[in-house]
Formats: sequence, structure tokens, C-alpha cells
Amino acid sequence: MKAIEIKPDIFWVGAIDWAVRDFHGYVTSNGTTYNNYLILDKQVTLMDTVKHDFAEITINNIKNLVEPSKIANVVINHIEPDHAGGIDKIMAFTPDATIYITDRGKKGLDRHFNTSRWNFKIVKTGNTLNIGKYNLLFIETPMLHWPDSMVTYVKEAKLLISQDAFGQHYASSSRFDDEFVTCESMAQLEDSVIDYYANILMPFGQLIKAKIAEIQKLGLEISMIAPDHGIIWRQNPPKVLNMYLDMANGKADLRIVIIYDTMWHSTERMTIPITDGIRDEGVDCKIIKLRTTPMSVAIKELWKSRACLIGSPTLNNVMFPSVAEFLTHLRGLRPKNRIAGAFGSYGWGGGAVKEAYEEFRKMGLEIYEPGLQVLYNPSSDDETKCYEFGKEFAKKVKEYHKKF
Ligand code: FEO
Repeated sequence: MKAIEIKPDIFWVGAIDWAVRDFHGYVTSNGTTYNNYLILDKQVTLMDTVKHDFAEITINNIKNLVEPSKIANVVINHIEPDHAGGIDKIMAFTPDATIYITDRGKKGLDRHFNTSRWNFKIVKTGNTLNIGKYNLLFIETPMLHWPDSMVTYVKEAKLLISQDAFGQHYASSSRFDDEFVTCESMAQLEDSVIDYYANILMPFGQLIKAKIAEIQKLGLEISMIAPDHGIIWRQNPPKVLNMYLDMANGKADLRIVIIYDTMWHSTERMTIPITDGIRDEGVDCKIIKLRTTPMSVAIKELWKSRACLIGSPTLNNVMFPSVAEFLTHLRGLRPKNRIAGAFGSYGWGGGAVKEAYEEFRKMGLEIYEPGLQVLYNPSSDDETKCYEFGKEFAKKVKEYHKKF
């Protein structure tokens, strides 16, 4: 896709990755984009690069606008390889350009490239760069989502180049939010924002709130947010800002997601009466089986829901491997403002349900106890217990949801 002017003399020159379905373990069923931006000013300035494999695409986009040797400045907002991986190919055209980067960014880049041949200028929050008619303001955003991260504000364009923040893994021939005109397409875009937040930014809600407050305090007028993935927010930047604030404040639907795995269908059978109990309390419920559902989808659905029930058979006195893997991954994402319970089947000795609760405690989740265990197949008595378990859990979730 050719370069697109997003503001006067500021161009999207990125690449669309229609084919990627596994982004370091995160399933990207809609592909993604690697966005970077070229400012044609007195000093030609490139904002970020792209993933190494896509460097030729951005170089061609740049060449259609200007000789890459004319690039005077390269701003690296974030060193993760999907954005900085192409820097060596860019710098080959313009070895004397200055790279603007945070201190941690430089240290990280040193571990990926032979940087001794390049010129660097280390920047901090509040530092500015005049490149002609445009002034750039750098704002560090450490741990959003890497230590090196920063965003760049182009003052005269009222443009926030926000690196991963506000992005989505969403490959599309559209570049702007206002091109998503049907309710269905907008819902899909919003879902991609939630998906990205849940899988990448969930651990950093407090930092997100603080950073948005800091930017608001600076009084920056923002008419466009241009992230490094997905769609550019041209028509309605407050929409994505508010979505982030809502999620950082713990927004979730009054809904229970059951995430389970099963060996011989016993744990699976338990989900049916549990769901009946939940629904009879008027609470929406979604069921996800691990191994047949990508983990990143399960994470997104959990994040959209106020509560989760984890179902696991006991295997050799511990949780089923896929469930253990899921909970370990979830613990790293540090979910908050969610309530959890567990259930499962066992043969000669339990253990999985107890372990699931140990994981919930490590995460600091609100807990619904006791969990429910069934010996081998659920009998009709057990099914009644499952139904009651679902009902009581749903009652507790409704109470808990009122806090938000
Ligand atoms: Fe899209 Fe943190 O890289």
C-alpha cells in the first residue's frame, strides 16, 4: 500500500501484514500493520521503522516521496523488533542521520544492532526538536509497554504518534477510524482495541491512567492519534482515549466466562448445568475450551467479563497442562477487578481445583469459594450441585459488579 498523507506533509509509510497469525504467541486472526510516519519538513524526519521483513516496503514508500538519503532524523519511540527491526536498512541509506531515542531505548538497541556507527541524541520527557515548520515533543511512557517506550507529539499538527498505545492488530486497506462506517465494522475495530489492550497492556492500567492524566495536564490539543499498529484515530481520538481509561478503571460486562479443558469430557459436562445456573440468574455466560481456542482469545474474553470460572480435570494430582499454562500466562498479565472460581473432575485424587485457587490468590483476584469437584463423571446429583454452583456464583458476581 502506498504512502498516505495523514496531516500536511506527514505521511503514513508503513506496511500491512495480512498474513501474520502468530505474533509471538498472540493469535492475530486479522493480521496487523506496522505503521511508521515520514515528515517532509526542512529536516526530513522518520518516526519509527517497521519489522525487519517489511523494511523494503517502507523504503519504497519513502522513495516515492523523497530520497531516503535525505532523512535527517529517525525517531525511535519503541525498540521492539516490530518497530525498530528495520532500522539498519534505513540507516544504510542515511548513515549520518541522528536517532532520537530514550536512554533505555539506546541501551536496548545496543543489544540488537551494532550501533557504534550511528549518531544518537538521548531524549527525555519535555525535550523538543524543531525540524522546520513542525516542533516535536517527546514524552517518555516507560513500561507502556516496554521500559524504553515513548510517544511523540507533533505540535502544529496536533498529532500524537503513540507507538503501541491505542493500536490494534488489524490489517485493513482502510487507514482511518472514519472509514469504519457500519456498526459491524466499528464493533470489530473496538473489539480489536480491547483484544490488544487485554493481551499487551492489561498489566499497566495504573500507568496508563497516570500517563493519560499527565498528557491532559500538559494541555496538548490532540486532533489525531497515530499508533504503530492498525487504524489511525482521525475522526474520534477521544473514543480510544476513553476506551483506555474505562479499561484501566476496570470496566467489564456483567458476564461470566467459563474457560476449561477436559480429558474424557467429565469437566466439559459440568459446564452445561453450571451455565444453566448462571443464566437462570440472568447473567450472560460464554464458554471457551482451551486447546481449541487460542489463548489470546481466552484472555480477551476474560477481560471483557466481570468474572471467570476455570474448569480443569486433575491429571497426576495437578491441573491439566493447558489450564496451568493459561493461568500462568494470565498471572503475568496481572488482571484486576475480576472475580474467579474453579471446578473440575478427578479420578482417584483431586488437586486441580486447589491449584487453580492458589493461582487466583497469587494474582490477587477476588475469589469465590469453595470450588466444585466431581468424581469421574457427573451424576445427576452432581449436575444439581453444578447448577447450584453456577447460580450461587452468578449471585456473587452480580453483587461484586455493583462496585464498578
Ligand atoms: Fe508493536 Fe511493543 O511492539
